[in-house]
Amino acid sequence: GLELPTVAGALGRGAHRALTLAMLLLLLLLAGPGLSAAAPGAPPLFNLSLDAAPELRWLPMLRHYDPAFLRAAVAQVIGNRVPQWVLELIGKVVTEVESFLPQPFTDEIRGMCDFLNISLVDGILVNLAYESSAFCTSIVAQDSRGHIYHGRNLDYPFGNILRKLTVDVQFLKNGQISFTGTTFIGYVGLWTGQSPHKFTVSGDERDKGWWWENAIAALSQGHFLISWLVRKTLSDSEDFEAAVYKLAKTPLIADVYYIVGGTAPQEGVVITRNRGGPADIWPLDPLNGAWFRVETNYDHWKPVPKRDDRRTPAIKALNTTGQANLSLEALFQVTLAPFPAYLGYTIYTTVMSAADPDKYMTRIRNLS
Ligand SMILES: *[C@@H]1O[C@H](CO)[C@@H](O)[C@H](O)[C@H]1NC(C)=O
Ligand SMILES: *[C@@H]1O[C@H](CO)[C@@H](O)[C@H](O)[C@H]1NC(C)=O
Ligand SMILES: *[C@@H]1O[C@H](CO)[C@@H](O)[C@H](O)[C@H]1NC(C)=O
Ligand SMILES: *[C@@H]1O[C@H](CO)[C@@H](O)[C@H](O)[C@H]1NC(C)=O
Repeated sequence: GLELPTVAGALGRGAHRALTLAMLLLLLLLAGPGLSAAAPGAPPLFNLSLDAAPELRWLPMLRHYDPAFLRAAVAQVIGNRVPQWVLELIGKVVTEVESFLPQPFTDEIRGMCDFLNISLVDGILVNLAYESSAFCTSIVAQDSRGHIYHGRNLDYPFGNILRKLTVDVQFLKNGQISFTGTTFIGYVGLWTGQSPHKFTVSGDERDKGWWWENAIAALSQGHFLISWLVRKTLSDSEDFEAAVYKLAKTPLIADVYYIVGGTAPQEGVVITRNRGGPADIWPLDPLNGAWFRVETNYDHWKPVPKRDDRRTPAIKALNTTGQANLSLEALFQVTLAPFPAYLGYTIYTTVMSAADPDKYMTRIRNLS
């Protein structure tokens, strides 16, 4: 591989790109489902100390990124996703908004904004913008020996930016890993995470229209951001049951599906959330053959729209794998990896199992 630049230099730029791509594919093939941190597509892994002040704790991570790139990313996401009236409204009432947003999230955002020299309004808006319009697939499943596995694809626009901003973060308390999550630089919430030896969580959007109108109204009543509740639950909840209770009951700014996996047989559930509370609780039922649950972005008791059926292929793939052969590798290779072939929006795939926390694995998808 070391000779590649010289050869490529002689061949010119187009050939260089083709060669690099060929190398990448080769590496991918050779690596297979290799799970080491240096594997192709693995996002950077950072430690974040919760013992540091909220304003300071993300800064060591930010130093690995070009501030101009981060500022441009913020501007692009806000410009594309936040309606003008929301920009104006939040701009006018930012001090009030700040006062009712829960800590430590607001102070963390403020610290990053100061560091990057962007306004707090923009910091809050970009965190709100990432709350909407994520299309996802989540699966929780139990193998024949009673082990629980959890996998998710996170699909979102702005892939070119977000693939470069995707990180795995280990949140440390007293120097020990308290929980792990996957997020984008600058985004303090989590859509995907694991509390070791306790539970795993992922969120899938449940869009009912009028997202911004409803979210702003609920925000002003003190409801939680969806991804902030995931992080708070990972941080606070003692076990699977406590996590399910908190995720089901806490008022939110928008509807969502929360998928939760535990450590013991039958600990797996899809929670369909209304803003005020649970609309439906759909647990694994392995004793009656329901050894997996698949949730995309539609209520599980309704048919999926034909134009966006990610549910049937996932179920087919799980059926093909079979309960006896289920593993994190199978979940990744057979079920989640084939999606981007026809759905280029997938930013990352994570597979995890709370009972075996070191196996937490994220891969950035559709790298080009
Ligand atoms: C921060 O931003 C302000 C306004 O956008 C600008 O005037 C100032 O020079 C910037 N400071 C730094 C250190 O980049
Ligand atoms: C993160 O912290 C853990 C626990 O203290 C430590 O074992 C690990 O080496 C650290 N990893 C990085 C990437 O700094
Ligand atoms: C998956 O398997 C179950 C149980 O055998 C069956 O009822 C279902 O139709 C299968 N679904 C798909 C999409 O293959
Ligand atoms: C499951 O794995 C076993 C042994 O690894 C293999 O013989 C069997 O064909 C597999 N079953 C399926 C459905 O792939």
